[in-house]
Formats: sequence, structure tokens, C-alpha cells
Amino acid sequence: MQTVRTSEELTRALAEMRGDTLALVPTMGALHAGHLALVEEAKRRAGRVAATIFVNPTQFNDKDDLARYPRPEADDARKLADAGCELLWMPAVDDIYPQEFSTTIHVAGVSERWEGEARPGHFDGVATVVAKLLLSVLPDMALFGEKDFQQLAVIRRMAADLNLPVEIVGVPTVRDADGLALSSRNALLSADERRRAVALPQALKTAQKAIRSGSDVAGVLQKAKQSLVDAGFLRIDYVALVDAITLEPIDAPQGEMRLIAAAVIGSTRLIDNLPI
Ligand code: PAJ
Repeated sequence: MQTVRTSEELTRALAEMRGDTLALVPTMGALHAGHLALVEEAKRRAGRVAATIFVNPTQFNDKDDLARYPRPEADDARKLADAGCELLWMPAVDDIYPQEFSTTIHVAGVSERWEGEARPGHFDGVATVVAKLLLSVLPDMALFGEKDFQQLAVIRRMAADLNLPVEIVGVPTVRDADGLALSSRNALLSADERRRAVALPQALKTAQKAIRSGSDVAGVLQKAKQSLVDAGFLRIDYVALVDAITLEPIDAPQGEMRLIAAAVIGSTRLIDNLPI
């Protein structure tokens, strides 16, 4: 695997790779099996796979959170190479955001609620950096995890609105054996919190079954929230049934839907979602 940092190095490396379909996997590093599943899916779909590691400052709401973000570069590079990635681009902050940088992409509607409400400006940062990464690499496709379902919806909307010549591919969430979605944040849970955190995917699974069998949506969501409180979650930001494209809440089953949730256990905020 070739690792490049500057945009000149990137241009040269991309020129050498021309002629085969290219898939891009954008990440912020600290890679786990969830990220590597994106690389594996990319390998199934394209002749060549490139990845980016860029801890994007504009999508963090908290400076300390950004400063604390883990950056195990050598481990990450080894994992990507082992998974079959051929090119890794690790741009510097100044390369992505030079002094005079003045553009922000705001995807209205789909980025407003849920994570957008909990983390103001977050999706502007995500949309802007993803547009820049996609336009710099111009892959045939780019892969994103369903784990961050609203992020995937925001990126799909942006790519469609701007006619980005890149297919956006969603990849199912990779979970631990007990059902908890893999996330770098899981490392922040104490052993006791980790045991109780499984209530989140369990609550979604129970709600998924109930909605599929025709139960009243409001009642199902209320029960799911109560089960999180019972498991010791300190704050429930939302448990909602939403339209899978617009992320608008719905109160009765219709079209393609998603169950989404965010809740805090100890001092760690977890998100998860399931299809209906
Ligand atoms: P990051 O959190 O590093 O995640 C990179 C990609 O891995 C995202 O598409 C995310 O949805 C996916 N991912 C994370 N955990 C997963 C899991 N358990 N199963 C499947 N996929 C999973 O998301 C970002 O970075 C950034 O916002 C980024 C898109 C790179 C823009 O900066």
C-alpha cells in the first residue's frame, strides 16, 4: 500500500492507478472491524481501493474531543494494507483547509434534526470535507457505514444535489457478538457500562419487531426509551422512527423507514439504528 500526504503526491499516485474502477473509504482513523468492513465491501465492488484518514477539525463541536481523538497511524496503515487497500491519503489540516478557505456545504433538511441538533455545525463539517475528499480523489464510488445513518443520508443528498460523479454506497453496521455496534467510543465505557450498553441494540431490536407486527409506533418508542432508562442510560436524546431518506419523524409505518437512537451511558454518548 502506498501512503501519500500532499495533494501533489495524491495526484501522482492516482495517475498510476488509472484504468480500473476505484472505490474510496473515507475515515478519521483509529480503525476497527467496522471500518475494515467498508474496505472489504469496496474490494468486492471495485478493482482498486483507496482510503483516507483525516481527523476533520470542522466536524468536532468540542476542542478537547478533537485533541483527544486517537491517531494510531502505523496500526491503521497496517490494518488497511492487510485488508487490501492500495492507497492511503493522509492529508494535513492545512492541505484541506488552507488559510483562505471560505466554503461550507450545508445540506438543509436531512442534517437539521437528531445528530444535527445535538451537534450544531457537525454535518456542515462532514459534508464539506467529504465533498473535498471526493472531488480530490474522484473515485467511481465511496463507501460509508450505516452505523452513522444520518451522515450517510446527508452525504447521499449532497452527492445528488451537486451531481457529484460518485456512487454513494452504504454498508451494514458491524456489531460485537452481543449486538453492540462497533465504535471507537466503546473503548471509553467502563466494564459495567459496556455490559449495560447492549440495552441500546436490544431496545431497537424489540422496537423493530413490534413495529413490524403492527404495534402503535408512539407506544413502541416510549417502551424502548423506558428500557434504556431501566438499563441505566442517564440521558436519552432520541429514539425515533424516521423516513430513511429525509430523516423526518413518522408516526405510522410508510415507505422505507429507519429506527434511530442516541443515548448517554456514564459520560459516553452512543448512537445506533436499525432498518424496518
Ligand atoms: P469515522 O468515524 O472514522 O468512520 C468512517 C466510516 O466508518 C464511516 O462511514 C462510518 O459510518 C463507518 N463505520 C464506523 N463504525 C462502523 C460500524 N460499526 N460498522 C460499519 N461501518 C462503520 O464517519 C467519519 O469517520 C467521518 O465523519 C468522515 C465520513 C470520514 C468525514 O470526516
